[in-house]
Amino acid sequence: MDLKQKTYLLVTGASRGIGREFAQQLAKRISGKGSLVVLLGRDLNLLDETKANILRVNAELEVYTYSLELSQCQAEDFSKILSETLEKSNAKAEGFERAIVIHNAGTLGDASKHAREIGDTAYLEKFFHTNLFSALALNCEFMRVFRDQAKLVVNLSTLAAIQPIPSMAYYCTVKAAREMYFRVLAKEEESTDKTLVLNYAPGMIDTQMTVQVEREAHDPTIKAMFREQRESKVMLTTEQTALKFIKILESKVFQSGDHIDYRDY
Ligand SMILES: NC(=O)c1ccc[n+]([C@@H]2O[C@H](COP(=O)([O-])OP(=O)(O)OC[C@H]3O[C@@H](n4cnc5c(N)ncnc54)[C@H](OP(=O)(O)O)[C@@H]3O)[C@@H](O)[C@H]2O)c1
Repeated sequence: MDLKQKTYLLVTGASRGIGREFAQQLAKRISGKGSLVVLLGRDLNLLDETKANILRVNAELEVYTYSLELSQCQAEDFSKILSETLEKSNAKAEGFERAIVIHNAGTLGDASKHAREIGDTAYLEKFFHTNLFSALALNCEFMRVFRDQAKLVVNLSTLAAIQPIPSMAYYCTVKAAREMYFRVLAKEEESTDKTLVLNYAPGMIDTQMTVQVEREAHDPTIKAMFREQRESKVMLTTEQTALKFIKILESKVFQSGDHIDYRDY
Protein backbone atom coordinates (compact mmCIF):
# COMPACT_ATOMS: atom_id res chain seq x y z
CA MET A 1 0.00 0.00 0.00
CA ASP A 2 1.30 3.40 -1.01
CA LEU A 3 0.64 5.65 1.98
CA LYS A 4 1.73 8.79 0.17
CA GLN A 5 -1.71 9.79 -1.04
CA LYS A 6 -4.09 12.66 -0.44
CA THR A 7 -5.61 11.29 2.75
CA TYR A 8 -8.31 12.02 5.30
CA LEU A 9 -6.90 10.54 8.52
CA LEU A 10 -8.85 10.30 11.77
CA VAL A 11 -7.34 8.80 14.95
CA THR A 12 -9.16 8.29 18.27
CA GLY A 13 -7.16 8.38 21.50
CA ALA A 14 -4.47 10.48 19.78
CA SER A 15 -3.50 12.39 22.93
CA ARG A 16 -0.98 9.82 24.19
CA GLY A 17 0.24 6.23 23.97
CA ILE A 18 -0.21 4.18 20.83
CA GLY A 19 -2.74 6.56 19.25
CA ARG A 20 -0.36 9.52 19.39
CA GLU A 21 2.46 7.51 17.80
CA PHE A 22 0.22 6.04 15.08
CA ALA A 23 -1.06 9.51 14.20
CA GLN A 24 2.49 10.89 14.03
CA GLN A 25 3.91 8.01 11.99
CA LEU A 26 1.03 8.02 9.49
CA ALA A 27 1.01 11.82 9.21
CA LYS A 28 4.71 11.68 8.37
CA ARG A 29 3.98 9.50 5.32
CA ILE A 30 0.76 10.80 3.79
CA SER A 31 0.83 13.56 1.20
CA GLY A 32 1.17 16.96 2.89
CA LYS A 33 -0.73 18.73 0.16
CA GLY A 34 -4.49 18.35 0.49
CA SER A 35 -4.43 15.79 3.33
CA LEU A 36 -6.36 16.35 6.52
CA VAL A 37 -5.68 14.91 9.98
CA VAL A 38 -8.25 14.74 12.77
CA LEU A 39 -7.17 13.89 16.31
CA LEU A 40 -9.69 12.86 18.99
CA GLY A 41 -9.23 12.41 22.73
CA ARG A 42 -10.34 14.18 25.89
CA ASP A 43 -7.22 16.13 26.83
CA LEU A 44 -6.99 19.03 24.40
CA ASN A 45 -3.53 20.12 25.61
CA LEU A 46 -2.09 16.70 24.86
CA LEU A 47 -3.90 16.59 21.51
CA ASP A 48 -2.35 19.95 20.64
CA GLU A 49 1.07 18.49 21.49
CA THR A 50 0.43 15.66 19.03
CA LYS A 51 -0.67 18.23 16.46
CA ALA A 52 2.51 20.28 16.98
CA ASN A 53 4.67 17.15 16.60
CA ILE A 54 2.87 16.34 13.34
CA LEU A 55 3.21 19.83 11.89
CA ARG A 56 6.91 19.94 12.77
CA VAL A 57 7.44 17.03 10.36
CA ASN A 58 4.75 17.64 7.73
CA ALA A 59 3.98 21.36 7.84
CA GLU A 60 1.57 21.40 4.89
CA LEU A 61 -1.03 19.21 6.59
CA GLU A 62 -4.27 20.55 7.99
CA VAL A 63 -4.69 19.17 11.51
CA TYR A 64 -7.78 19.48 13.71
CA THR A 65 -8.17 18.42 17.34
CA TYR A 66 -11.42 17.65 19.15
CA SER A 67 -12.04 16.87 22.79
CA LEU A 68 -14.74 14.21 22.96
CA GLU A 69 -15.82 12.03 25.89
CA LEU A 70 -16.40 8.63 24.32
CA SER A 71 -18.44 7.28 27.21
CA GLN A 72 -21.26 9.66 26.25
CA CYS A 73 -20.82 10.38 22.55
CA GLN A 74 -23.49 9.81 19.92
CA ALA A 75 -23.31 9.20 16.16
CA GLU A 76 -24.22 12.90 15.66
CA ASP A 77 -20.98 13.98 17.38
CA PHE A 78 -18.95 12.07 14.81
CA SER A 79 -21.11 13.22 11.95
CA LYS A 80 -20.49 16.82 13.06
CA ILE A 81 -16.72 16.32 13.35
CA LEU A 82 -16.52 14.73 9.90
CA SER A 83 -18.57 17.43 8.17
CA GLU A 84 -17.01 20.31 10.11
CA THR A 85 -13.44 19.26 9.28
CA LEU A 86 -14.30 18.91 5.59
CA GLU A 87 -16.00 22.31 5.61
CA LYS A 88 -13.17 24.04 7.49
CA SER A 89 -10.63 22.89 4.96
CA ASN A 90 -12.95 23.51 2.05
CA ALA A 91 -12.68 19.87 1.01
CA LYS A 92 -15.07 17.23 -0.24
CA ALA A 93 -14.99 13.55 0.71
CA GLU A 94 -14.62 12.69 -3.00
CA GLY A 95 -11.47 14.78 -3.18
CA PHE A 96 -9.44 12.34 -1.07
CA GLU A 97 -7.59 9.41 -2.58
CA ARG A 98 -7.93 7.47 0.68
CA ALA A 99 -9.71 7.84 4.02
CA ILE A 100 -8.18 6.19 7.09
CA VAL A 101 -9.79 5.72 10.48
CA ILE A 102 -7.78 4.36 13.40
CA HIS A 103 -10.09 3.09 16.14
CA ASN A 104 -7.50 3.27 18.88
CA ALA A 105 -9.05 4.81 22.02
CA GLY A 106 -9.64 2.22 24.68
CA THR A 107 -9.78 1.57 28.39
CA LEU A 108 -8.96 -1.47 30.50
CA GLY A 109 -11.92 -1.57 32.87
CA ASP A 110 -11.64 -2.62 36.50
CA ALA A 111 -8.88 -5.26 36.55
CA SER A 112 -9.36 -5.88 40.27
CA LYS A 113 -12.63 -7.68 39.50
CA HIS A 114 -13.07 -11.36 38.67
CA ALA A 115 -15.39 -12.35 35.81
CA ARG A 116 -17.89 -13.49 38.46
CA GLU A 117 -18.03 -9.92 39.81
CA ILE A 118 -18.66 -7.71 36.76
CA GLY A 119 -22.45 -7.63 36.77
CA ASP A 120 -22.87 -3.90 37.51
CA THR A 121 -24.86 -2.88 34.43
CA ALA A 122 -24.34 0.86 34.93
CA TYR A 123 -20.56 0.35 34.87
CA LEU A 124 -20.88 -2.07 31.93
CA GLU A 125 -22.94 0.40 29.93
CA LYS A 126 -20.36 3.16 30.38
CA PHE A 127 -17.47 0.81 29.64
CA PHE A 128 -19.13 -0.59 26.53
CA HIS A 129 -20.12 2.87 25.36
CA THR A 130 -16.48 4.02 25.62
CA ASN A 131 -14.93 0.96 24.00
CA LEU A 132 -17.53 -0.47 21.65
CA PHE A 133 -20.56 1.72 20.93
CA SER A 134 -18.43 4.79 20.19
CA ALA A 135 -16.24 2.87 17.71
CA LEU A 136 -19.33 1.50 15.95
CA ALA A 137 -20.98 4.93 15.82
CA LEU A 138 -17.83 6.56 14.44
CA ASN A 139 -17.29 3.79 11.94
CA CYS A 140 -20.82 3.99 10.55
CA GLU A 141 -20.52 7.76 10.06
CA PHE A 142 -17.09 7.31 8.48
CA MET A 143 -18.42 4.64 6.08
CA ARG A 144 -21.35 6.90 5.14
CA VAL A 145 -19.26 10.03 4.48
CA PHE A 146 -16.53 8.20 2.54
CA ARG A 147 -18.88 5.71 0.83
CA ASP A 148 -17.21 5.87 -2.58
CA GLN A 149 -13.60 6.39 -1.46
CA ALA A 150 -10.87 3.85 -0.86
CA LYS A 151 -10.90 3.30 2.89
CA LEU A 152 -8.57 1.79 5.48
CA VAL A 153 -10.28 0.89 8.75
CA VAL A 154 -7.98 -0.11 11.61
CA ASN A 155 -9.12 -1.52 14.93
CA LEU A 156 -6.56 -1.57 17.74
CA SER A 157 -7.10 -5.13 18.86
CA THR A 158 -5.17 -7.26 21.33
CA LEU A 159 -4.32 -10.81 22.23
CA ALA A 160 -7.04 -10.34 24.86
CA ALA A 161 -9.65 -10.27 22.07
CA ILE A 162 -8.92 -13.89 21.21
CA GLN A 163 -7.53 -15.32 24.46
CA PRO A 164 -9.02 -15.23 27.98
CA ILE A 165 -6.75 -13.41 30.44
CA PRO A 166 -7.44 -13.44 34.20
CA SER A 167 -8.10 -9.92 35.57
CA MET A 168 -9.27 -8.75 32.15
CA ALA A 169 -12.90 -9.86 32.04
CA TYR A 170 -14.16 -6.43 31.00
CA TYR A 171 -11.35 -5.86 28.53
CA CYS A 172 -11.38 -9.30 26.87
CA THR A 173 -15.16 -9.19 26.49
CA VAL A 174 -15.35 -5.79 24.86
CA LYS A 175 -12.30 -6.34 22.65
CA ALA A 176 -13.72 -9.66 21.36
CA ALA A 177 -17.03 -7.96 20.50
CA ARG A 178 -15.27 -5.05 18.84
CA GLU A 179 -13.07 -7.29 16.73
CA MET A 180 -16.05 -9.36 15.58
CA TYR A 181 -17.82 -6.20 14.40
CA PHE A 182 -14.82 -5.30 12.24
CA ARG A 183 -14.63 -8.85 10.88
CA VAL A 184 -18.27 -8.70 9.82
CA LEU A 185 -17.65 -5.30 8.26
CA ALA A 186 -14.74 -6.73 6.25
CA LYS A 187 -16.88 -9.66 4.99
CA GLU A 188 -19.77 -7.43 4.00
CA GLU A 189 -17.60 -4.89 2.20
CA GLU A 190 -15.46 -7.52 0.44
CA SER A 191 -17.34 -7.22 -2.86
CA THR A 192 -17.02 -3.41 -3.06
CA ASP A 193 -13.23 -3.64 -3.03
CA LYS A 194 -13.11 -0.18 -1.43
CA THR A 195 -12.68 -1.04 2.25
CA LEU A 196 -9.66 -2.66 3.81
CA VAL A 197 -10.05 -3.66 7.46
CA LEU A 198 -7.21 -4.56 9.81
CA ASN A 199 -7.47 -5.77 13.40
CA TYR A 200 -3.98 -4.98 14.64
CA ALA A 201 -2.76 -6.39 17.98
CA PRO A 202 0.21 -4.15 18.88
CA GLY A 203 1.98 -6.41 21.38
CA MET A 204 2.63 -5.39 24.99
CA ILE A 205 3.44 -1.67 25.04
CA ASP A 206 4.79 0.62 27.73
CA THR A 207 1.80 2.97 28.14
CA GLN A 208 -0.54 4.07 30.92
CA MET A 209 -2.77 1.08 30.16
CA THR A 210 -0.11 -1.51 31.01
CA VAL A 211 0.90 0.48 34.10
CA GLN A 212 -2.73 0.15 35.20
CA VAL A 213 -2.69 -3.63 34.64
CA GLU A 214 0.43 -3.90 36.80
CA ARG A 215 -1.13 -1.79 39.55
CA GLU A 216 -4.69 -3.16 39.59
CA ALA A 217 -4.78 -6.76 38.31
CA HIS A 218 -6.17 -9.14 40.93
CA ASP A 219 -4.18 -12.04 39.50
CA PRO A 220 -0.63 -12.06 40.92
CA THR A 221 0.79 -13.91 37.90
CA ILE A 222 -0.52 -11.26 35.50
CA LYS A 223 0.76 -8.47 37.75
CA ALA A 224 4.23 -10.05 37.89
CA MET A 225 4.31 -10.75 34.15
CA PHE A 226 3.61 -7.11 33.27
CA ARG A 227 6.16 -5.89 35.86
CA GLU A 228 8.88 -8.23 34.58
CA GLN A 229 8.24 -7.32 30.95
CA ARG A 230 8.53 -3.62 31.76
CA GLU A 231 11.61 -3.96 33.96
CA SER A 232 13.45 -6.22 31.52
CA LYS A 233 12.54 -3.83 28.64
CA VAL A 234 10.86 -6.68 26.75
CA MET A 235 7.82 -4.44 26.62
CA LEU A 236 7.72 -2.55 23.35
CA THR A 237 7.75 1.18 22.82
CA THR A 238 4.92 2.89 20.97
CA GLU A 239 7.39 3.68 18.19
CA GLN A 240 8.38 0.02 17.72
CA THR A 241 4.80 -1.12 17.28
CA ALA A 242 3.84 1.86 15.08
CA LEU A 243 6.76 1.15 12.73
CA LYS A 244 5.76 -2.52 12.52
CA PHE A 245 2.19 -1.44 11.74
CA ILE A 246 3.44 0.80 8.91
CA LYS A 247 5.54 -2.05 7.54
CA ILE A 248 2.50 -4.37 7.57
CA LEU A 249 0.46 -1.76 5.68
CA GLU A 250 3.19 -1.04 3.16
CA SER A 251 3.77 -4.70 2.35
CA LYS A 252 0.01 -5.46 2.52
CA VAL A 253 0.57 -8.93 3.92
CA PHE A 254 -2.99 -9.42 5.19
CA GLN A 255 -6.54 -10.04 4.00
CA SER A 256 -9.26 -7.57 4.92
CA GLY A 257 -10.61 -8.42 8.39
CA ASP A 258 -7.51 -10.32 9.53
CA HIS A 259 -6.21 -10.21 13.10
CA ILE A 260 -2.50 -9.44 12.79
CA ASP A 261 -0.26 -9.44 15.83
CA TYR A 262 3.02 -7.53 16.20
CA ARG A 263 4.77 -10.90 16.57
CA ASP A 264 3.37 -12.30 13.32
CA TYR A 265 5.90 -10.37 11.21
N1 LIG B 1 -0.67 -0.88 25.74
C1 LIG B 1 -0.76 -2.12 25.32
O1 LIG B 1 0.07 -2.99 25.67
C2 LIG B 1 -1.87 -2.54 24.39
C3 LIG B 1 -1.88 -3.87 23.94
C4 LIG B 1 -2.88 -4.28 23.08
C5 LIG B 1 -3.84 -3.38 22.64
N2 LIG B 1 -3.82 -2.08 23.09
C6 LIG B 1 -4.88 -1.18 22.62
O2 LIG B 1 -4.30 -0.01 22.04
C7 LIG B 1 -5.16 1.11 22.26
C8 LIG B 1 -4.37 2.25 22.90
O3 LIG B 1 -3.85 1.80 24.13
P1 LIG B 1 -2.73 2.60 24.95
O4 LIG B 1 -1.93 1.59 25.65
O5 LIG B 1 -2.08 3.60 24.07
O6 LIG B 1 -3.65 3.32 26.03
P2 LIG B 1 -3.46 4.70 26.81
O7 LIG B 1 -2.05 5.12 26.86
O8 LIG B 1 -4.22 4.52 28.07
O9 LIG B 1 -4.24 5.74 25.86
C9 LIG B 1 -5.62 5.63 25.68
C10 LIG B 1 -6.12 6.70 24.74
O10 LIG B 1 -7.55 6.60 24.70
C11 LIG B 1 -8.15 7.85 25.04
N3 LIG B 1 -9.33 7.65 25.87
C12 LIG B 1 -9.43 6.87 26.97
N4 LIG B 1 -10.67 6.99 27.51
C13 LIG B 1 -11.35 7.86 26.74
C14 LIG B 1 -12.65 8.40 26.79
N5 LIG B 1 -13.51 8.06 27.75
N6 LIG B 1 -13.02 9.31 25.85
C15 LIG B 1 -12.15 9.66 24.88
N7 LIG B 1 -10.90 9.18 24.76
C16 LIG B 1 -10.50 8.29 25.69
C17 LIG B 1 -7.06 8.58 25.84
O11 LIG B 1 -7.17 9.97 25.65
P3 LIG B 1 -7.60 11.02 26.80
O12 LIG B 1 -7.08 10.57 28.10
O13 LIG B 1 -7.06 12.33 26.29
O14 LIG B 1 -9.07 10.98 26.72
C18 LIG B 1 -5.77 8.09 25.21
O15 LIG B 1 -5.42 8.90 24.12
C19 LIG B 1 -6.31 0.60 23.12
O16 LIG B 1 -7.41 0.31 22.31
C20 LIG B 1 -5.76 -0.67 23.73
O17 LIG B 1 -6.77 -1.59 24.06
C21 LIG B 1 -2.86 -1.66 23.96
